[in-house]
Amino acid sequence: MNNTKKDKWDLSNKPHTRMKLDIYREYLTPAITIFKKWLSYSNKKIFIVDCFAGRGMYHEGKNKNSIDGSPLIALKVIESFIKKGIPKNKIKCFFVEKNIKNYKDLLSFTNKYKSTIDFKIIHGTFSDSIEKILEEVNSNPCIFFIDPYGIKGMDKISIRKIMSKMGPKDTILNYMKEGVARTKGVIRKGTLNEKEIKTIETFKNFLGDCSEKILKEKDSELLMHYVEEVLKKQSTEDLKILAYDMKSSFKDSIIYYLLFATKDKRIATKIMKQIFKKYKDMEPEKYRKQQTLPNLIAPIKNQFEL
Ligand SMILES: C[S@@+](CC[C@H](N)C(=O)[O-])C[C@H]1O[C@@H](n2cnc3c(N)ncnc32)[C@H](O)[C@@H]1O
Repeated sequence: MNNTKKDKWDLSNKPHTRMKLDIYREYLTPAITIFKKWLSYSNKKIFIVDCFAGRGMYHEGKNKNSIDGSPLIALKVIESFIKKGIPKNKIKCFFVEKNIKNYKDLLSFTNKYKSTIDFKIIHGTFSDSIEKILEEVNSNPCIFFIDPYGIKGMDKISIRKIMSKMGPKDTILNYMKEGVARTKGVIRKGTLNEKEIKTIETFKNFLGDCSEKILKEKDSELLMHYVEEVLKKQSTEDLKILAYDMKSSFKDSIIYYLLFATKDKRIATKIMKQIFKKYKDMEPEKYRKQQTLPNLIAPIKNQFEL
């Protein structure tokens, strides 16, 4: 097997991951700027919760040039706000990582920020940690970043807990369409082996018990079902949801939908729409370099409001 394929932290052939990181970075600064107004209340604080944090660092190319992962992106953005005057105790990050090696790497890559930024790295799973994190976050403004590899570990119950959190919050969530499609393939089969039974279990945790009818729906309808059932249903307030459809570099299929959920229907929604538009325009050139068929790369209009 080729090494690039095996190494999950090598971004050489993953422009779509690169784009997700760029969108996250680009959103954080305006998001914190919007939330900053809450800091005039003495008991308020801004939180960033990275629920599937990773190891903090990717690399690329023969020379293995370093590329920041989501935790380092957040820490660098926070550092810039602290330099501009936000007190250290007014902004805090949680990073949750299940894998022990990634957790240890993350500890070491973030070590230099330990004395200047308030953050906590949790070795554990998202679903085991989220309740305690939400207790501390309480009604403070918070940005959640939910970025698993597939749909495993991203259970509906935990996502709903985030969605029902009181107070201002923005969520960027990676809905891995490929993970969903894989399950649909398995479900169509007759007799299932042990691994396939587990795949279906994972899917049920992701979307809840769903009928055969729902599973036969088109991918876009299944996404709508996820939005209604998991994101909107338990939310205390009406949410605005935007979606960015990211296509594969090699074929004309969608890999993931980057979903953005916010209560702020005016400013935050407008900013994220602008960011999505900007990346949609850049996508063919910068993030889908390998794509050669010009008719497949036209930006999809009206793709981002659900
Ligand atoms: C796509 S990577 C995250 C990349 C990271 N967000 C970034 O952009 O730098 C997913 C990470 O989640 C971790 N992970 C897998 N299952 C998890 C779970 N149930 N809870 C927390 N972390 C998990 C994996 O070990 C992996 O490091």
